[in-house]
Amino acid sequence: MNQKRENWGSKYGFILAAAGSAVGLGNIWKFPYITGENGGGVFVLIYLICIALVGIPIMMAEIVIGRSTQKSPVGAFSALAGKDSPWKIIGWMGIFVGFIILSYYSVVAGWALNYTFMSLTNFFSGKSPDEIGSVFGMLYTSSGINIFWHAIFMMMTVGVVLGGIKGGIERWNRILMPALILIFIILAIISVFLPGWKDAVNFVFFPHFDKLKASGVLEALGHAFFTLSLGMGAMLTYGSYLQKDADIVKSSIWISVLDTGVALLACMVMFPIIFTYGFSPEAGPGLVFKTLPIIFAQIGSGGMFISFIFFLLLVFAALSSAVSLLEVVTSYFIDEKSWSRAKATLVTGGIIFLFGIPSALSGSGVLFPQWEAMYGKNFFDTFDYLASNWMLPLGGLFISIYAGWIMDPKLREAEYLSGSTFTSTWYYKVWLVFLKFVAPISVILIILQRVGLIDIDKLMAAIF
Ligand code: PHE
Repeated sequence: MNQKRENWGSKYGFILAAAGSAVGLGNIWKFPYITGENGGGVFVLIYLICIALVGIPIMMAEIVIGRSTQKSPVGAFSALAGKDSPWKIIGWMGIFVGFIILSYYSVVAGWALNYTFMSLTNFFSGKSPDEIGSVFGMLYTSSGINIFWHAIFMMMTVGVVLGGIKGGIERWNRILMPALILIFIILAIISVFLPGWKDAVNFVFFPHFDKLKASGVLEALGHAFFTLSLGMGAMLTYGSYLQKDADIVKSSIWISVLDTGVALLACMVMFPIIFTYGFSPEAGPGLVFKTLPIIFAQIGSGGMFISFIFFLLLVFAALSSAVSLLEVVTSYFIDEKSWSRAKATLVTGGIIFLFGIPSALSGSGVLFPQWEAMYGKNFFDTFDYLASNWMLPLGGLFISIYAGWIMDPKLREAEYLSGSTFTSTWYYKVWLVFLKFVAPISVILIILQRVGLIDIDKLMAAIF
């Protein structure tokens, strides 16, 4: 390949773009609703532990692999492990998971687009909380509107990825990330004055051990991967565009802190509303759309403006994540098949759009109703469940095993040290312990527990 590989415009640009990939619908749409479904406190605690013990070490590993090879996942593993090595499967799996996630992610982003336009028409003002709740139901079940917005959002994603690394992805993130955080802080401050605020704090931050279901532990782990964009090569790909003098440790910590901060802020905006109006925290995927407009409706005429800005920023947060999903897929065709960026982006974007149609139709119940009745999950739920709870943790497991046990230690250490301010071997060794033992063993234990091969409670009782 003789094309010069693109780079981020600055180190700061990388952190913002990677944080843009991490912060998305996962933080604002998904985290609050799965926290609600899993009973709050304990789930949040397990999620935070997974971020720290499993997420950050694996994020560093992905960036180390990406930057040392300067390639996207398939190319990276074939450069490191050899052309015919089975480790290339990690790269293939990443492309496949990127396909699946983006296909339904775009449908949710479409809901946000729909709400953005509803805000423009001042749709929510004067409506009661119940009426606002039923608006989501109407949107969820209508097939035409879902497909329309899904198409629009996929076109936006393709548009940004066409612009390439510096021109497209980085430029947008510079403005939009800080704006998103600002609006969340404002909304969180408004929420402090709601009567349900205390209950919300109690729900989110105080562990009530009786409320966690066993499946919640795997869901917390899966979400840690999903929200940090790990386990499918997105961070690896972004790392491949990173300059050699950037600090991988510092960047990874920053990205994770920003990402977790936004997720917790989102909870502290939504749960006070839920408890003030006596809703159930278990409202499911419609949670953000059913709660926030209530506040906007009450602010009066200014509410319409805030609502518009909020949903618009949600769309952009989703866009900067969607772009990283599509980038994993397209960069394979650009790097390995020498396709032009335009061809790779248009073809893959088009296929993912088609792939997303069943998810867009999920709420209407027109597709495979028997299947849904049998498994209790529609197409959309099934894709999300498989991708985030199983494929990402498995991908992350293999990445940690590869980086911890198989990768050339000299190469790994050199890449870790390049640009690092954490140069003492002590830091490096701590990372290795996490990468080699803590992260993979945690993932394995949680998966074994979930499939019923071990019972962690009994194991603990036997050990202590
Ligand atoms: N991290 C993104 C979010 O939270 C989703 C994502 C997952 C992006 C995997 C890239 C890779 O919304």
